[in-house]
Amino acid sequence: MKKEQVVNCQFSVWYPIFKKHTIKSLILPLPQNVIDYLLDDGTLVVSGGDNNTQHNQTNNSDSEEEDVQAPEFPEFNSKVLEAINTLGGCVFPKLNWSAPRDANWIALNSSLQCQSLSDIFLLFKSSDFITHDLTQPFLHSSDEDSPNPAINYELVLRKWSELLPGGEFRCFIKENKLIGISQRDYTQYYHHISKQEAQICHSIQEFFSQHVQYQFLDEDCEWDSGKVWLIDLNPFGEVTDSLLFTWEELTSGNSLSANQEEGDTAQQEGPVFRYTTSDVTVQPSPCLSYRIPRDFVDLSTGEDAYKLIDFLKLKKRQQEDSEEEVEEEVRQ
Ligand SMILES: Nc1ncnc2c1ncn2[C@@H]1O[C@H](COP(=O)(O)OP(=O)(O)OP(=O)(O)O)[C@@H](O)[C@H]1O
Ligand SMILES: [Mg+2]
Repeated sequence: MKKEQVVNCQFSVWYPIFKKHTIKSLILPLPQNVIDYLLDDGTLVVSGGDNNTQHNQTNNSDSEEEDVQAPEFPEFNSKVLEAINTLGGCVFPKLNWSAPRDANWIALNSSLQCQSLSDIFLLFKSSDFITHDLTQPFLHSSDEDSPNPAINYELVLRKWSELLPGGEFRCFIKENKLIGISQRDYTQYYHHISKQEAQICHSIQEFFSQHVQYQFLDEDCEWDSGKVWLIDLNPFGEVTDSLLFTWEELTSGNSLSANQEEGDTAQQEGPVFRYTTSDVTVQPSPCLSYRIPRDFVDLSTGEDAYKLIDFLKLKKRQQEDSEEEVEEEVRQ
C-alpha cells in the first residue's frame, strides 16, 4: 500500500466517482482551528455555540489549572447545521478516511448518529480512529521514506441510514479483480447469510462488474457493500481490517480458498466468500480491544472532577433542549 493509494481512498476522491451508488453525503473543509481543537488533549468539553466554560487541565498535577473559554466556531457551526439540515436532520460523521466507530459508547444515544456540531465533537474528541486520521494517516505505507503528501482535512457528513449489520460485506479488490468477500460484522452469526450465500455473492459480483471494476483510480481497493450499496472505500493494505481473511492470504500470489482450513487446494472462479458459520464461538466486538480513552477513565473513576461536571452539564443542556422542543411542539 503506497501513500498515493491512501490519498486516493479519501472520501472526497471516491465519492464523486460512486455518488450514484452510495449514501448521500456532504463534505466540508475542516478549518485549522477546528483541527487544533480536536487534537487538543485533556479537554472533553464540547463547544456547540453556547458560552460554557472549558476546564483545560494539563497532565502535570502541580501545574495551575486555568479556566479557558470553550472555543467556538460560529461560521463553521452554521455550515455544519445547514448541511445536517440538507441531509434530513441526522448524520453519520467521518473525517477523510475514518468514522469514530470506537467512540459510540460515549454518545448519549450510544450511536454515531449526530444532529449538531457538539454531537460530532464529542465523538471525534473521544476517538482514536479520528486521531489516527489527523496524526498518522500514512502508517503502514510501503513507501514510508517518501515525503507525506499534503492532506486537506474534511468533515464528511453522510445522511443517517439504518443499515443492517448482517447485510454488510467487505470486498477485496486486487488488480481490478474481486478476490474476496467477507462478512463485515464477523463476530456474529447470521443465519440468512449461510442460507443465501450464492445469491449474496452473485449480487455483489454483478454490482462490482457493473459499477466498480475499472472505475477507480487505483487498481487495488476494498469496499464495503451493504446489499448493493457502496458504503466505504479503504486502501488495500494493513490499515484496513482484513476481517475473515489475513493480509498475507490476500496479498500473496496464491489463490484463496473458501475456508482457511482448506488450504490452497480449492481453486475457484470468482471471489472467495467467507462468513461466520456458527454461533457457538462468541467473539468480543473488535472495538473493545481499543484502549479506553483517558476521558472515560477519568469520568468513571471521578479522577478528573471537571470532566464529570462538563459531561453532566452537557447532558443537562441536551435534556433542556429536548424539553424545549417538546414544549414548542405542545404550543403548536
Ligand atoms: N450513513 C450512515 N448511517 C448509519 N450508519 C452508517 C452510515 N455509514 C456507515 N454506517 C455504519 O458505520 C459503519 C462504519 O462506517 P465506515 O465504513 O464509513 O467507517 P470507517 O471508519 O471507514 O470504517 P473502516 O475503518 O472499517 O473502513 C458501517 O459499516 C455502517 O454499519
Ligand atoms: Mg473506511
